[in-house]
Amino acid sequence: MKLFTSVVLFGAAVALVSAAVVGTEGEISFEYHRYEELRKALVSVWLQCPTITRIYTIGESFEGRELLVLEMSDNPGTHEPGEPEFKYIGNMHGNEAVGRELIIYLAEYLCNQYQQGNETIIDLVHNTRIHLMPSMNPDGFEKAASQPGEIKDWFVGRSNAQGVDLNRNFPDLDRIIYINEKEGGANNHLLQNMKKAVEENTKLAPETKAVIHWIMDIPFVLSANLHGGDVVANYPYDETRTGSTHEYSSSPDDVVFKSLAKSYSMYNPVMSDPNRPPCRKNDDDSSFKDGITNGGAWYSVPGGMQDFNYLSSNCFEITLELSCDKFPSEDNLKTYWEQNRNSLVSYIEQVHRGVKGFVRDLQGSPIFNASISVEGIDHDITTAKDGDYWRLLAPGNYKVAATAPGYLTVIKKVAVAFSPATRVDFELESLMERKEEEREELMDWWKMMSETLNF
Ligand SMILES: *[C@@H]1O[C@H](CO)[C@@H](O)[C@H](O)[C@H]1NC(C)=O
Ligand SMILES: *[C@@H]1O[C@H](CO)[C@@H](O)[C@H](O)[C@H]1NC(C)=O
Ligand SMILES: [Zn+2]
Repeated sequence: MKLFTSVVLFGAAVALVSAAVVGTEGEISFEYHRYEELRKALVSVWLQCPTITRIYTIGESFEGRELLVLEMSDNPGTHEPGEPEFKYIGNMHGNEAVGRELIIYLAEYLCNQYQQGNETIIDLVHNTRIHLMPSMNPDGFEKAASQPGEIKDWFVGRSNAQGVDLNRNFPDLDRIIYINEKEGGANNHLLQNMKKAVEENTKLAPETKAVIHWIMDIPFVLSANLHGGDVVANYPYDETRTGSTHEYSSSPDDVVFKSLAKSYSMYNPVMSDPNRPPCRKNDDDSSFKDGITNGGAWYSVPGGMQDFNYLSSNCFEITLELSCDKFPSEDNLKTYWEQNRNSLVSYIEQVHRGVKGFVRDLQGSPIFNASISVEGIDHDITTAKDGDYWRLLAPGNYKVAATAPGYLTVIKKVAVAFSPATRVDFELESLMERKEEEREELMDWWKMMSETLNF
């Protein structure tokens, strides 16, 4: 968390925006936001809902634009023990503009609804720490947006300013997990203890590096990465096991991921329409079903952000393709918002599924970095600083184990409904304590024996 610097808000800018806010409060204006306008839009939300929002930046793009995040929570700026964290990232491909705008509108919507007393939204904001990053590639967006005319080129602005495709730039952890699956080895947190290697890697774009640190520093549970160019919810793995271009590539959490992807597609009438024609005549949509697709089954993507989240952290991420046009004309933006509004809210609610709780020792102290494993699913998650954990699961009966070095493992049987998450806490006995207790017992026995025998 110390990596993050607070956004410096210049008094003049605040005053300006503050004046502009009056009269527009409670209204969403469906237009594109260039970099300065995006900044102002986030500041407006912050001014309108100061008690539940905070603006911060996770770093800068290659050309020095800030990677801005609006946080929404009842205690902005702090991780509350037991409260899950969620993120939306938009505009990773700078020319895929719909997601960027939808995240801004979502921030405005949540703030408006919160103020108007909408119970659903109040509950969500009070029980979730929500992070909204409208643009991961602000340089690419400026390039795409500055093309004259309504029709934008299909590729201009996709990459960052160095020409790096950010969704191919993450460390390729799929290759490692595919080896570990065969030969044994870690099934989670594959970049453990490699922060320095990330820092020194010259192939990583500044935007990628900033997001890697973000993913590894905050205990995110669920996330989505918003793209454009097609209409589907895409789930891991994105990279195929054999290296072939199309091949269903299931992760150990295939059932959970399908359910998460559907929680998005189901509420979007266009995405879930079985009769929706492909975006372009020759597109191969044969892997799409109910508006969702496995990434590898569609086409293999090495070095993507989605799989990186799952394999380097506790965060489950899916990739949302929101529109056939990557940069549609402005008068379509309201329609896209209406198609996606319920999906965007429903997907955040999924963070409250599965099992959650705390792992502590017998004295009640939190155990950080304990493993939570589920029988039959070869992907463990770990506890955060307060011993808190969140394990997303589909409905069913499970055996869940909590393990930490130096402690006796505890296994519990758990029934999981669709939602809310079942609360399961674990108390682990330290092996050191066990030894001490045994020693004490021995001493007592020895004392008793000596007294009886009159030594
Ligand atoms: C409250 O928010 C939910 C979720 O977005 C929405 O479905 C519902 O219509 C809202 N209620 C009102 C009264 O606007
Ligand atoms: C968490 O535990 C793993 C193995 O159990 C260890 O390799 C890693 O260094 C630990 N991480 C932290 C941050 O303590
Ligand atoms: Zn994209």
